Amino acid sequence: MTQVRPETPAAAQDIVFDHVVKTYPNATVPAVDDLSLTVPAGEICVLLGPSGSGKTTALMMVNRLAEITGGDIRIGGRSIRDLDPIRLRRSIGYVIQQTGLFPHLSIAENVATVPKVLGWGKKRIKERVGQLLELVGLPVDEYGRRYPSQLSGGQRQRVGIARALAADPPVMLMDEPFGALDPITREHVQDEFLALHERIRKTVIFVSHDIDEAVKMGDRIAIFREGGKLAQYDTPRTLLKEPADEFVARFVGADRGLKRLTLTRLADLAGSGELSPARPDDRSLPVLPADASLRAALSLMVAEGTEGVLVTAAEGAPDADGAARADGTPAGGTGAGGRVLGVASLDAVRKAGTA
Ligand SMILES: Nc1ncnc2c1ncn2[C@@H]1O[C@H](COP(=O)(O)OP(=O)(O)OP(=O)(O)O)[C@@H](O)[C@H]1O
Ligand SMILES: [Mg+2]
Repeated sequence: MTQVRPETPAAAQDIVFDHVVKTYPNATVPAVDDLSLTVPAGEICVLLGPSGSGKTTALMMVNRLAEITGGDIRIGGRSIRDLDPIRLRRSIGYVIQQTGLFPHLSIAENVATVPKVLGWGKKRIKERVGQLLELVGLPVDEYGRRYPSQLSGGQRQRVGIARALAADPPVMLMDEPFGALDPITREHVQDEFLALHERIRKTVIFVSHDIDEAVKMGDRIAIFREGGKLAQYDTPRTLLKEPADEFVARFVGADRGLKRLTLTRLADLAGSGELSPARPDDRSLPVLPADASLRAALSLMVAEGTEGVLVTAAEGAPDADGAARADGTPAGGTGAGGRVLGVASLDAVRKAGTA
């Protein structure tokens, strides 16, 4: 994706759930039960939990597709109860699992939907659509006139994201947006979304039932348990290190120590002086660029039977991109083109993992 800045970006706003309850008509128990949490402006909050634990319901209350039955939700300090639902929805980007693209509209027309409703001029809409499709890596000249059925699943997801961003909403709601994608495409679209988010800094609530996705995408993770109850709300690091109870520990998995290794990069070891200087015989060690994760380093050590990896500067590394994959698979390339920063030993990785 190229560097295109949205025009006059709307400032991100925080979202506060204040003792929110949702009980559907005729239900005996709430779908969401006394939910309180704050999503700071510009952060990605992942709602994680088993099927039926109230994630989608919590999301849909924010744009009033589901009406709250108790408590309050405030966006940028304003109660959603005081806002007209239709106008509220236009000010919030919403991405659902099947992307919800209109099959009979072209890609460009799909992205233009909300600006049209808002009565923007033709020229402004055209510019915005061009800008957004460029932003998600689908240049309008090549893709604008196609129909959704003429795109791959991952490309459709990206159009869904572009459409949700069209009116530059300060808040985005995403309900398992990448759930239908194969693992490789999914990882690619996740990376693209994170890169995009770095630049546009919306406040995002993102539903997932995949702990790896949550750890990768979330600044914070809210884990729900059955009955729509919040089990824990923390940063991925804290959640993996200190699960609040048995339920959370089981949900995040027995390999939570390994998962934590995905949160630290070799560059972080270099930054805190934990790489040892490379000696001549270290030249035979496997090589990873500094932006690879500690988990990738550990996988490589196990695969190669070594007690260290040679770390090179990420810039100029031929295969830096694939190196920090969250699943821990090491990159295919060696990254040997970069300057050598030092050696990450098994011990250093272990220490950083338990810190
Ligand atoms: N429109 C509705 N009317 C009545 N009950 C509903 C409605 N929508 C959801 N529910 C119930 O509310 C509870 C929470 O559902 P919700 O869709 O929020 O779960 P979820 O965590 O998103 O699950 P999943 O991971 O399967 O998508 C479930 O018990 C569900 O059956
Ligand atoms: Mg759901």
